[in-house]
Amino acid sequence: MSTSTCFRKVEKGGLNMNYGRVAVIGLAGQSAFLTADHFPAPGETISCSSLFFEPGGKGYNQAIACVRQGVETLFVGAVGNDSSAKECRQGLEQEGIKVRFVEKELPTAYAVITTISGGENTVQVLGGAAKTLSEEDLRENAVFEELGGNDYLLIQNELSSECLTAAVKLAREKGISVIFNPAPAENVDVALISLCELITPNYGEAKYLAGFSEEAEPSAQELFDAFKRMSVKKAVVTMGGSGALIIDEEGYKLIPAFSAGEVVDTTGAGDTFNGTLTAALAMHKDLEEAVRIAIVAAGISVTRHGAAGSIPVKSEVMKIVAGLQ
Ligand code: RIB
Repeated sequence: MSTSTCFRKVEKGGLNMNYGRVAVIGLAGQSAFLTADHFPAPGETISCSSLFFEPGGKGYNQAIACVRQGVETLFVGAVGNDSSAKECRQGLEQEGIKVRFVEKELPTAYAVITTISGGENTVQVLGGAAKTLSEEDLRENAVFEELGGNDYLLIQNELSSECLTAAVKLAREKGISVIFNPAPAENVDVALISLCELITPNYGEAKYLAGFSEEAEPSAQELFDAFKRMSVKKAVVTMGGSGALIIDEEGYKLIPAFSAGEVVDTTGAGDTFNGTLTAALAMHKDLEEAVRIAIVAAGISVTRHGAAGSIPVKSEVMKIVAGLQ
């Protein structure tokens, strides 16, 4: 097991040192993007019309969304000793992200993403090395060493719950605010939810966390009631074309969606939203303003193909945000 580049105090042209900093602990891996007319049914073989490769993973994409808003960002994750790991490191470092990779004797994560016309996608992920990042790795790498009360930890549900629990515990000891994007909604450790300052499920994930059936269509009031029972401090529930619902202990508010044009690929829209939201909070925006900014960023990303490659930079986002005010 070996590690690399440490989290330095910065430095780079586009980064603003007056902002809080963001640590993203998550999955980084290679992704193969296929385009098809329709999704294959079980047992069906279909022809695809295009293929391209791009490093990704929810953590990887969210770190990129965050740094593209000008906020100093650290990425922590586990990878193998292979070409995917090298590409992930290069992709993150060329954005100005500090990278701490823990190297494991397992393959780097890999995803196969199929997108059909209209932008809908399916994603299949092999977690590989990423899934084995442990509490010991976080402690050995002192990942929060230079962070404090002005800073944020952003996590997703692509790591083991043991690792996520340790990350939240270590962050809280340092007064770091924790934002948990409980995606994908698969074996989410519900105990984590009330320990985080903010959770950011999409509507399906929110239903899963609150114990609604897949067929249920809970109202904003029903989600608010359920989250209150679960001691959720704050939540932002993303609802695609219907906008985003902000829920806190007092009530809820729906922020409308933003359309930047034809939707071609929704892959990574949630990641764009989460990374931009966290960056905006680190820039000392209030939650509602941060949600409005993140909605614009996600709205731009779905008009472009790919995940990390579709994430807009700050100037594009803020130009639109200014026009909306
Ligand atoms: O949210 C999209 C991401 O999820 C893709 O980049 C893929 O790698 C999966 O982990």
